[in-house]
Amino acid sequence: MAKDFKRTLITTALPYTNGPVHIGHLAGVYVPADIYARYLRLCGRDVVMIGGSDEHGVPITLKARKEGVTPQDIVDRYHKLIKESFEGLGISFDIYSRTTSKIHHDTASEFFRRLYDKGEFVEKSSMQLYDPEAGQFLADRYVTGECPHCHNDRAYGDQCEACGTSLNATDLINPKSVITGATPELRETRHWFLPLDKWEPELRKWILEGHKEWKTNVYGQCKSWLDLGLQPRAVSRDLSWGVPVPVEGAEGKVLYVWFDAPIGYISNTKELLPDSWEKWWKDPETRVINFIGKDNIVFHCIVFPSMLMAYGDGFQLPDNVPANEFLNLEGDKISTSRNWAVWLHEYLADFPGKQDVLRYVLTANAPETKDNDFTWRDFQARNNNELVAILGNFVNRAVVLVHKYFGGNVPEAGELTSAETELFAEIKRIKGEVSEAIETFHFREALKLAMDMARAGNKYLQETEPWKTAKTDMARTATILNTAIQACANLAIVFEPFMPFMSEKLVKMLGEGKISWNELGNDNIIAAGSVIGTPELLFEKIDDEAIKAQTDRLETIKEQNRINSFQAAPQQPDVDFDTFMKADLRIGTVLECERVPKADKLLRFLIDDGLGKRTIVSGIAAYYKPEDLVGKQVCFIANLPPRKLRGIESQGMILSAMDADGSLVVVGPSAPVVAGAQVK
Ligand code: MF3
Ligand code: ZN
Repeated sequence: MAKDFKRTLITTALPYTNGPVHIGHLAGVYVPADIYARYLRLCGRDVVMIGGSDEHGVPITLKARKEGVTPQDIVDRYHKLIKESFEGLGISFDIYSRTTSKIHHDTASEFFRRLYDKGEFVEKSSMQLYDPEAGQFLADRYVTGECPHCHNDRAYGDQCEACGTSLNATDLINPKSVITGATPELRETRHWFLPLDKWEPELRKWILEGHKEWKTNVYGQCKSWLDLGLQPRAVSRDLSWGVPVPVEGAEGKVLYVWFDAPIGYISNTKELLPDSWEKWWKDPETRVINFIGKDNIVFHCIVFPSMLMAYGDGFQLPDNVPANEFLNLEGDKISTSRNWAVWLHEYLADFPGKQDVLRYVLTANAPETKDNDFTWRDFQARNNNELVAILGNFVNRAVVLVHKYFGGNVPEAGELTSAETELFAEIKRIKGEVSEAIETFHFREALKLAMDMARAGNKYLQETEPWKTAKTDMARTATILNTAIQACANLAIVFEPFMPFMSEKLVKMLGEGKISWNELGNDNIIAAGSVIGTPELLFEKIDDEAIKAQTDRLETIKEQNRINSFQAAPQQPDVDFDTFMKADLRIGTVLECERVPKADKLLRFLIDDGLGKRTIVSGIAAYYKPEDLVGKQVCFIANLPPRKLRGIESQGMILSAMDADGSLVVVGPSAPVVAGAQVK
């Protein structure tokens, strides 16, 4: 695999700077890319890992408008926050730049201009939505309306998030301007289109025939796009925020964000390596790998490759695009706008020193083949039962015992028994499997295998029992503890790509300087006589309180979202006063309340209505335990004609309020009143 290439260029999707990064971004893109980059570096291979912020696009301008600041203010704020939080998590970018840089504007501009000069674009006039009140065209997310496919009434001009369909703004039913709320009108405007259909035969050959090894989710999505037939795509927009279209008469037009952003990979490589960047893009012995989330597949496998082919000049297409599926949070889709996320900068503040725990959990639970769920309970369990109980425990036992029996000096190994040779055979076997798994982008599997190495260490100590041999046979004890320390060194290597903080700490504790993948499987990494540092715990238990603080925070957000998402029903037509007064509304006291057999929605009430007792059946069984309502006072309509429900005659109707989620809450007086009190 990796051996056939001279160098690997790793790109990571450039996150939009309209919010901080969250665990979904991390699990999908940055943690796997970082594992891959660290692994290749540890193998001594030539690697660069490119990152940066995607600072154009409509959502950024909308956020700026909402806050009354400039788009530049927004991107400056989030670029800084994102860059620093990536550093905090140890994501080892060789460069993390931004698409508002001069070098990027120049590069993207030149890219467009070359395609323009080569006649690679089709120039077309079309009717686009225009907001007459704001005096501007409404690109992409500047419009919302009803989705023509699933009829979700909050679809955006570029996509419906409910059904996932990508849309043109003009497809929306009942479009509304996000800026003024006005109904847009159609106006003519000119744009440049990249005819993707021209590249279809080459794309088919390259992907469908040439890259059958790609992940099935990626290959499948490409195939379905190609089978549907490709269309020309507009690569410009009527907007003021972005890279200006470098063509005369194109004032007020910028490059479409999805045109300029992937060029950012090139700009950022140029910025990092001004003299040698070309060999990282154009030499066939360079291998390009794009780490992305599943919503980016079409842009990286169809659109950007078409751009690169149109440009020519030897640009290499990606060798692999190991896109991940999505990570959900506690069962719900992560959403920046609904604040439903675990934000990286907040995690780093709430769990200082625990970067590796997050890296571990996100990898162990990575959405590699299907969407997955992050829960705080699982986070706690994996920390306590795996990191603390297996890995941390093994290393701690080894280090503590060397201090206890040998004053902290690594003892000399004597004759090896089958226990030692078996342990190292196991470590070597795992090394091969971990390498294979990482090189084929199976990071979850790789991490699980690495953990098996720690398990093997525990099993070794359990079987050899150095605390017992120490009573009778110090030579044997020396061999065992030398072996245990060598196993610790192996763990420091195998876990480095996944948990670099832990690995560094462990390497320091063992007194060794540099580690390499090559050493993995070696049974003599730490020389006898080396001084082992004071035992320090690699991981500590996370208690229920810390977890509860996080789940409480999410509960609060859920509650806020519930309230924010509520839209009150429009007011009903007027009713005249006399008609209203005919309704006999009163308060009754609940004497009995019970479920109606075989009707899961219904409760049967016996009510003291001041005149006597009456039975009322009400459809609120899903929201109450019947016994909780006994003794309560409720408001009901007394003069409705009786009605039979499931064979029971209901003499009236109990009033309830419907909450945002559709649940019902019984209406009653705010202080006790006499049964039969009229409501006026
Ligand atoms: N900003 C995009 C997103 O968050 C990703 C851009 S990737 C790039 O979905 F290739 F365009 F840079
Ligand atoms: Zn839809």
